[in-house]
Amino acid sequence: MKVDILLGLQWGDEGKGKIVDFIGKKYNLIGRFQGGPNAGHTIKFNNQTHVLHTIPSGIFQKKTENLIGNGVVIDPIIFSNELLKLKENNIKYNNNLYISRKAHLIMPTHRYLDAASEIAKGNKKVGSTLKGIGPTYMDKTGRNGLRVGDIESKDFQKKFKSLTKKHNQILKKYYSYQNSSQKKDIDIWLKSIENLKKLNIVDGEYFINKRKKIQILAEGAQGTLLDVDFGSYPFVTSSNTISASACIGLGVAPNKIKKVIGIFKAYCTRVGSGPFPTELNDKIGKKIQKNGHEFGSTTGRSRRCGWLDLPSLKYATMINGVTELVITKIDVLTSIKKIKICTHYKHNGKKINYLPFNIDTEKLKPIYKEFNGWNDDVSQINKFERLPNNLKNYIEYLEKELMIPIKIVSVGPDRSETIHR
Ligand code: GDP
Ligand code: IMO
Ligand code: MG
Repeated sequence: MKVDILLGLQWGDEGKGKIVDFIGKKYNLIGRFQGGPNAGHTIKFNNQTHVLHTIPSGIFQKKTENLIGNGVVIDPIIFSNELLKLKENNIKYNNNLYISRKAHLIMPTHRYLDAASEIAKGNKKVGSTLKGIGPTYMDKTGRNGLRVGDIESKDFQKKFKSLTKKHNQILKKYYSYQNSSQKKDIDIWLKSIENLKKLNIVDGEYFINKRKKIQILAEGAQGTLLDVDFGSYPFVTSSNTISASACIGLGVAPNKIKKVIGIFKAYCTRVGSGPFPTELNDKIGKKIQKNGHEFGSTTGRSRRCGWLDLPSLKYATMINGVTELVITKIDVLTSIKKIKICTHYKHNGKKINYLPFNIDTEKLKPIYKEFNGWNDDVSQINKFERLPNNLKNYIEYLEKELMIPIKIVSVGPDRSETIHR
């Protein structure tokens, strides 16, 4: 067995879905290893756009199997809707989609707890997608959670009711939170559980480890700066998003990992609250947002935009042990006269090139290097050599600074708009 990992090096939405789909056919199996429907992975081909939340992005490659690993948290309602969309588009999943028995289930009350917690935080809120991710992982580590395997047991309903009751006690006593749609939500949820039962539920760790020749691509969700340990805590998600998490979230040993493919946008975006040292609150930020269609694939919220941040990219490649890089959305910078990259920060009067304990935007002032832009439309270019010289300079500078080859350059959202070097 060989496992490569593809994961985001920024605050998510780097284009993971597009690139996993693009390289997916080289692998026998794509495995999601963490996160849940807070993710939105977009794939475009044949004039159609698909957005996946729980299902791995290999689902459109006919010969590739897909596994939702034990590290993922699944909302059966969202998952059922995803399956329905695949069906409507004639995408087959009966023989190539598998779910780990050990993956945890997001319950309706997890969503309410998420909402109640955010309301209670007031202006310190995380900006969660409100999909119930945090409360579900809390129940997992608190040893209370419900897992996919539990739906096969006789006392599933009893376990579900008992946990729902406990959540309602917390909601009422601690948060004074009420939700009038609870009964309806629970009915739909239980119906969706019946759909889940019809799918291929497997012991994920055996499913992959018993096949000696299998080549796996582990697909990350979110990004390194949203990692619960190494991200901009507390403005992070509730799972480990980094490469080490692929071992835990699928059940593979570290010595099976080969390539770690790190993906980043040609600039930075962030959706939700939290520090963002290179954020652009000006016309250029707006232009990037407009040209890059920077609106969340899951929540539709507008994404904050800013210049590329080299100290944080270096940090991300270090934590993940990145062996090769993918740069996306370089086309979005077309027609910006002067493009900047943050090379260092000024912090307490000192020039630094690392991330301090507190990534406080107030105290961390970016120091920029400026690059000349380009005007040519690059989306139809399929050879690196044919790209405008100023664009190549930008990429070659990054390669030199990061000391890792950039193997794929993405020049548009479509599967075909991709340059493999
Ligand atoms: P993910 O969460 O990392 O899979 O990324 P998202 O799908 O949330 O966001 C990436 C967005 O950028 C999607 O709308 C993609 O269709 C789009 N996209 C991906 N690569 C490119 C690219 O190279 N250029 C442009 N213009 N759009 C891209
Ligand atoms: P993909 O896989 C971008 C952000 C949320 C919020 C924080 C916590 O599409 O890149 P959560 O719902 O996990 O409690 O939210 O993390 N966030 C994402 N931002 N892309 C994602 O996933 C994200 N998943 C969560 O906006 O700031
Ligand atoms: Mg996304």
